[in-house]
Amino acid sequence: MKNEVDVIVNVDVSPQGIDYELSISKAMSEIKIEDIKIVVAAPEHEVYVDTILDTIREAAKKRGTGIAERTHEYVATKMKEGKAVLALHGDKFAGFSYIETWGNKHYVTTSGLIVHPDYQGLGIAKRIKDYTFTLARLRWPHAKIFSLTSGDAVMKMNTALGYVPVSFNQLTDDDAFWHGCQGCVNHDILEAKGRKFCVCTGMLWDPEKHHGEPTSLEVIKDVMRTLVLRGIE
Ligand SMILES: CC(C)(COP(=O)(O)OP(=O)(O)OC[C@H]1O[C@@H](n2cnc3c(N)ncnc32)[C@H](O)[C@@H]1OP(=O)(O)O)[C@@H](O)C(=O)NCCC(=O)NCCS
Repeated sequence: MKNEVDVIVNVDVSPQGIDYELSISKAMSEIKIEDIKIVVAAPEHEVYVDTILDTIREAAKKRGTGIAERTHEYVATKMKEGKAVLALHGDKFAGFSYIETWGNKHYVTTSGLIVHPDYQGLGIAKRIKDYTFTLARLRWPHAKIFSLTSGDAVMKMNTALGYVPVSFNQLTDDDAFWHGCQGCVNHDILEAKGRKFCVCTGMLWDPEKHHGEPTSLEVIKDVMRTLVLRGIE
């Protein structure tokens, strides 16, 4: 697949004539999807944390949503605990997401999904989501998995995996989870509505209501292999 190329033309009209400068902001390059690796992040991936946080901040600025601010330490810990998934193109950061448990491990969320702008539209978010979703189910098979999102792409991916829209009272009542909404521009609405609803859509995947396997056997095997090799339960 080819990257888009932004051609910038600066034109200067003066008595001497027209002068112009042409520059290409992004080198034309071929990104082969098979060269993008999806991995359960490990401690050595901490070198990517600051890039991940910058990319999340930039995306939130563009979307005007505000963010659940995560510290370097928080994300690095997710990597150490085998709760994060990375997409890498060689040694370049392409995408990220992580999982977290809430309410005594009765609930799990997949959060912080981000794909670097250079790699969007290639199906990477979908692959990352398959990994975080599988990681969550292998580690906490009885937990309900939920998502709180205003993003079309995430809603689409959740729906494909079998999540259904639910009211907020079916999500965790763990204060620590809702605390994460404080950085959002709509936090006042959430509080005014007593946490019952807001701008985001709550979506839930309940293991008791699902039979059959929405992700590929390859992803399940790969995540299992990683968990066994690292001794993660
Ligand atoms: C949203 C985001 C993660 C998508 O990453 P991506 O790698 O480009 O997504 P994919 O190519 O894997 O697409 C996954 C699905 O979402 C759809 N999709 C992707 N971007 C979309 C958009 N902006 N609007 C609607 N649907 C979108 C794709 O069509 C695809 O659906 P399909 O399988 O039915 O065709 C990426 O654009 C991003 O990081 N954005 C900024 C941060 C953000 O919005 N995060 C989500 C927080 S809720």
